[in-house]
Amino acid sequence: MQTTRPLLLTVIALAALLAACGDDSKPMSNSEVYRNPHAPIEDRVEDLLGRMTLEEKVEQMHGAGFPADSRGLYPTRENTRLGIPGFTMVDGPRGVSAATGFATTFPVGSARGATFDTELERRVGRAMGEEARAREANVLLAPTINLLRQPQWGRAQETYGEDPFHVGVMGAAFIRGVQEHVIASAKHFALNSIEDTRFNVNVTVDERTLREVYLPHFKRAVDAGVGSVMSAYNKVNGEYCSENRHLLTDILKDDWGFDGFVESDWLLAVRSTAPSALAGLDVEMPSPVFYGPKLVAAVQAGAVPMTVIDDAVRRILRMKFRFGIFDGRPPLDPAVVVESPAHQALALEVARKAIVLLKNDAAALPLDRASVRSVAVVGALAARANLGDTGSSAARPSRAVSPLEGIQAAASGVAISAIASDVLDADQQRQIEEADAAVVIVGLTAADEGESTVSGGDRKTMALSAVHQQLVRDVASHNPRTIVVLEGGSAITVEGWVDQARAILMAWYPGQDGGTAIAEVLFGDVNPSGKLDVTVPTSEAQLPPFDPQATAVEYDYFHGYRYVDHAGLEPRYPFGFGLAYTTFSIHDLRLERDALATAGTLRARVQVTNTGGRSGDEVVQLYVGAVGSSVERAVRDLRAFQRVSLAAGQTKTVALEVPVADLAYFDVVASRFVVEPIEYVAEVGSSSRDLPLAARFRVAAR
Ligand code: BGC
Repeated sequence: MQTTRPLLLTVIALAALLAACGDDSKPMSNSEVYRNPHAPIEDRVEDLLGRMTLEEKVEQMHGAGFPADSRGLYPTRENTRLGIPGFTMVDGPRGVSAATGFATTFPVGSARGATFDTELERRVGRAMGEEARAREANVLLAPTINLLRQPQWGRAQETYGEDPFHVGVMGAAFIRGVQEHVIASAKHFALNSIEDTRFNVNVTVDERTLREVYLPHFKRAVDAGVGSVMSAYNKVNGEYCSENRHLLTDILKDDWGFDGFVESDWLLAVRSTAPSALAGLDVEMPSPVFYGPKLVAAVQAGAVPMTVIDDAVRRILRMKFRFGIFDGRPPLDPAVVVESPAHQALALEVARKAIVLLKNDAAALPLDRASVRSVAVVGALAARANLGDTGSSAARPSRAVSPLEGIQAAASGVAISAIASDVLDADQQRQIEEADAAVVIVGLTAADEGESTVSGGDRKTMALSAVHQQLVRDVASHNPRTIVVLEGGSAITVEGWVDQARAILMAWYPGQDGGTAIAEVLFGDVNPSGKLDVTVPTSEAQLPPFDPQATAVEYDYFHGYRYVDHAGLEPRYPFGFGLAYTTFSIHDLRLERDALATAGTLRARVQVTNTGGRSGDEVVQLYVGAVGSSVERAVRDLRAFQRVSLAAGQTKTVALEVPVADLAYFDVVASRFVVEPIEYVAEVGSSSRDLPLAARFRVAAR
């Protein structure tokens, strides 16, 4: 007995110690609600907040330094006393940042926008979320959902294009996928679409344009549950976005009910302590320049109320709990996840669905291997896997396929002459002449466009370089069956050489398997199905003016297709346009009702028939225009779309829905969205300029 008791006590003490240790070896008492993974998140937040000192709270509100750490991540500090993990942030719009090592490198955002395939984009988001998590990140600094006001924007490639609805639903799909694994950060809030002067340009915008054109896609990101929003570098209406209370608090947090955290863009995005905190900036990245000790002092001096700090910290903690960061999630093995065969196959699938066939005279494409026995592949870009800019969005695959490699691999007996040069000598011209067809790869690279600090910045023109234009004309003068493949982040004008090209493909920056996808489309193994997510004008003059040097600019209500429609201009290729190797007929539009309540939903059904000889995908688009509105409106706005696959001869019914609330305009006097009780017209077709079907409906004042 004498010896048993100390033994028993030791066993009890050990058991108690073990029980207290939990997952993270911190003692847990019953009162530590925040450590209980089963307690409601808001209870955990309040409990933890109540235990934190001012210094500890402020320490949650900034990054831990620049540049990225050895893993390629931007961390925020952990609090070891209370066991609060930090964030680990990583860039990611087209694949997890090159700074982390290899990653599946997807086609850029503008290419993915051209798929008009939200389910596909959700899968891309999920794959990137998985790879980010495998690299020990818990926040992915993506998607970029700035509206493409004008295609010369250096970072055009990162976003999904020019239409607020389309950018919004594509971004929301990506966010849903990412957030199966890590927090997504929708960026850059807001009106960031000039690169060269991004650190100081002042964008002036009226409230209606702001709400109806430049913000709806961010609202969709919030509705999709995005955990973080990144404020932009530029000013909006005279105030830097990081100190813009109207954007960060009035609209984002109060109107939209965003319950995540706002983080700043990186260097130079934060310019002040109290004004930023009071405006609603929750996290200063990447280092504590204005937050940290200066913010502690501002609170102590009464310049920033403690309620402001508490609100920010609540948002940060809430996301750490909601996304399992606090409770520790099982790690993913990078050897299994990063560049997995499934992710690489997904990158190829996206590239196949993103390529847009802009022109195809006399069925120049596809190149039928039985009759086309030799192809000359021309241009310096033919020999290069052109993945996009080298700025923060850069990703690095361990393998990538150039167009030439893709074409050689798919040639199956067709003779390929490789002329990877932009200027032709007589011998090369002779080879082009002797070939049955010529494929010229031209366009842009990171030297022409991209993030200004490391890539080309804004484009000076929408045209191809003089060298590339000359190359197209030169090749075409030696081979009547000349096919042009364009690469680049957004619209490239085709005037000056379009008539010489028999066929034109827009391949964007098509990701690591872009060369494979280009070859498959050229040979007809894949039927092209991408649609332009941007208007291709005949010249810059058809779009709002763009000045990369501007330090002050006004963003008007009209841009993109809304601009050319409003001004009655004929663009070269309209928004939503893209050909295929088959033809489609869209017919029999039926509205479920032609009178709707303001809280109702427009439900349309339409038949789509593949009237050609091979299977393919069509994107059915529904636009709505207001008839007799009391305010000036766009002629039509895209309000719904659906990609549909059809076998040759097959007909399918496509159902499209538009909540009537989406038809509202922003009433600046009442400061709210208002649905007008007027007549509207729904137009359905295959692009913003090919809308053979129309039906009117009325909204009743209820
Ligand atoms: C870019 C952001 C990016 C950040 C971190 C900034 O310069 O504008 O998009 O997430 O750097 O790399």
